[in-house]
Amino acid sequence: MGMGSASIVVLASGEGTNLQAIMDAIARGELDCTVSLVVSDVRDARALERARNSGITAVHFPREKRTQDEYSDALRDLIMSYPHDFIVLAGFLKILSGSFIRAFPNRIINIHPSLLPCFGGKGFYGEKVHKSVIESGARISGCTVHFVTEDVDLGPIIDQESVPVLDRDTPEQLAMRIHPVEHQLLVRSIRLLVSGRYEIIGKRVVRT
Ligand code: GRF
Repeated sequence: MGMGSASIVVLASGEGTNLQAIMDAIARGELDCTVSLVVSDVRDARALERARNSGITAVHFPREKRTQDEYSDALRDLIMSYPHDFIVLAGFLKILSGSFIRAFPNRIINIHPSLLPCFGGKGFYGEKVHKSVIESGARISGCTVHFVTEDVDLGPIIDQESVPVLDRDTPEQLAMRIHPVEHQLLVRSIRLLVSGRYEIIGKRVVRT
């Protein structure tokens, strides 16, 4: 059964092209949800500007002198004060504490620019992911949308898409080939979530 109009909160640290893809899909009527809040730990993140340009509440929420736990708890409280059926990590670079993750069980998703469970986990972000893929000799990479659990990048996989690694690819070239595929994958994954037509069985997300 669908959730009617679900509300999502998006956390982003950077460019926010994945956020833009979500907002564009909603505007085109291809995604039945609303973005209730966008949060960034980075003051000048393009993601905040993109949200504001679309009339969405955008909050700069810096870590400052707080510990990781204090930051996560404060962020949890902020999110709790907005409608939040799902929380989407779209290039959010802070690792969130266990208590944050447990506050939203099976409600937080992340997009990662590799075919998990390969090339994921702590330290695997941005260019480092693509550099490692190329150095490994892998001929296929891609992107993954998964539920966030306390094991970094190892929660149940919602969907994946593959992208070829070409001869003489640089990390930048591979990243540029994966990025537009991420946009489609993320929108498709959120569509599944808001439809409610899935079940999590162990580490598997099964369509119902
Ligand atoms: C994406 O590559 C995503 O997979 C990673 O961070 C990047 C965010 O890109 N987690 P953007 O800010 O949405 O353009």
